[in-house]
Amino acid sequence: MATAVFVNGCVCKDPKLAKADDFFFEGLDKPGNTSNNVGSAVTAVFVDQMAGLNTLGISLVRIDYASYGETSPHTHPRATEILTVLERTLYVGFVLSNQNNSTLINKVLNKANIGHIPVVAIAAFNGQNLGIIAIANSVFGSNPPISDKVLAKAFQVDKKVIDYLEAQFWVNP
Ligand SMILES: *[C@@H]1O[C@H](CO)[C@@H](O)[C@H](O)[C@H]1NC(C)=O
Ligand SMILES: *[C@@H]1O[C@H](CO)[C@@H](O)[C@H](O)[C@H]1NC(C)=O
Ligand SMILES: *[C@@H]1O[C@H](CO)[C@@H](O)[C@H](O)[C@H]1NC(C)=O
Repeated sequence: MATAVFVNGCVCKDPKLAKADDFFFEGLDKPGNTSNNVGSAVTAVFVDQMAGLNTLGISLVRIDYASYGETSPHTHPRATEILTVLERTLYVGFVLSNQNNSTLINKVLNKANIGHIPVVAIAAFNGQNLGIIAIANSVFGSNPPISDKVLAKAFQVDKKVIDYLEAQFWVNP
């Protein structure tokens, strides 16, 4: 039903109408399609995919990586993340706040260190709908674009570099 009210979250279903499928997601056993510019694929189980997560403050994703695939740098505005590697080896990290010298905290996670072959990981979140802001996509792929003059100054590069970056196709993670 169309409404003028914007609800930040999802409307609750009458518990009498709840069914098992509201709490079920099928497909986490299947690899995602990593044939894209970054070589990774996310299979999400957020509130949009599993209605029963509504109000529960939890969700997870399966992440597949092709050989040398990556997830582009991003933030989750509404959740903290924890991640475990199910297959192979994954280099992970995050950067502390600018007040903390933008320190990079990083680590190589191993299931079995057998080389550069596809990786599977599960990441869990303390939110049903965590939001994702991929840094490069937001900065160079905004709509309409941020002025190349502004970005050239911000990144201390020539405007041509910014124009090049803005012309790329940014895969949303
Ligand atoms: C994977 O994605 C690529 C690029 O979009 C597409 O060409 C290919 O058909 C997809 N493969 C499968 C198995 O869906
Ligand atoms: C992080 O930055 C804050 C504010 O500048 C400072 O008080 C704190 O000691 C820093 N922590 C670390 C671990 O550097
Ligand atoms: C900040 O990081 C740089 C690069 O790692 C390091 O050389 C510097 O000592 C650090 N400064 C502080 C205040 O921690």
